[in-house]
Amino acid sequence: MFNEFLENALDGLFDCDVKNAMSYSLNAGGKRLRPKLIIAMVKGFNCDETLAYSAGASLEMIHTYSLIHDDLPCMDNDDYRRGKKTCHKMFNEPIAMLAGDGLLTYSFEYLLNSDYDNEQKIKCLKVLSHSCGANGMIYGQEIDILNECNTNIDITQLKKIHEYKTGKLFSCALMLGAIITNNDEYCDLLNEIGVLLGLAFQIQDDILDCTSSFEVLGKAIGSDEKQNKSTYVTLLGVSDAQILLNEIYDNILVKFDEINFNKREIEILVNQMRNRDR
Ligand code: IPE
Ligand code: IPE
Ligand code: MG
Ligand code: MG
Ligand code: MG
Repeated sequence: MFNEFLENALDGLFDCDVKNAMSYSLNAGGKRLRPKLIIAMVKGFNCDETLAYSAGASLEMIHTYSLIHDDLPCMDNDDYRRGKKTCHKMFNEPIAMLAGDGLLTYSFEYLLNSDYDNEQKIKCLKVLSHSCGANGMIYGQEIDILNECNTNIDITQLKKIHEYKTGKLFSCALMLGAIITNNDEYCDLLNEIGVLLGLAFQIQDDILDCTSSFEVLGKAIGSDEKQNKSTYVTLLGVSDAQILLNEIYDNILVKFDEINFNKREIEILVNQMRNRDR
């Protein structure tokens, strides 16, 4: 149902290549984990899942923009994403760059035009803009680039990269779920949990980058090695990295006990994330 909703989210835009490229990447078959996190929070607080859809669409636009730019030749230079050609390979570099810009800006416009009340919209926009900004995901992407060819990077620095480049958008998802159900007293805790979730998720991403296959993952494997990146796998080895991420996932599930809500939905989703193969 959310995917159908998202397919119509760009209807208001002019028909042009940039819109086609935005739509191509947005509907290319992502796992929708960030919207699923918002849905799980909303259901946990006993609200209908459709309440999460507008916030989920806004956040998925930002996530997709971050991937379009991440794949560009000036960043990771990847040709495949979600089993399909990356945006710049399907279209061209300038269009892909503009499609990313278009998704980022439309995310805010879209949320402003949603049905949430004004106070909720302001809170959502504050969290969204901070999470994806230069003190959020973008900061993580910047320090991730510095990690290329830097063989001396240590676990502390790597943890920081993961917490920002991946954790910030997970924090954002959890906090949006609290805001639109009027439970924002939990935002600080959810911010903390999201950062941990991003860390665990990105350690898995690094493991999958060297242990999975193109067919399963839908994106090039060995991308980190190609760029001489230090990862949890190069620093700890696959099995210790796996042990660490399981500890983090256990810790995450315990932290959700501090929230007065029905934990079942989020528990199912976190366990799906923990067992993912793509
Ligand atoms: C990929 O995120 C980028 C990372 C933060 C590791 P996802 O694995 O959630 O990507 P999609 O949306 O399912 O393609
Ligand atoms: C991407 O991290 C994170 C963001 C886009 C914010 P990666 O570069 O490791 O993601 P993949 O491996 O290309 O999906
Ligand atoms: Mg990258
Ligand atoms: Mg990449
Ligand atoms: Mg990766």
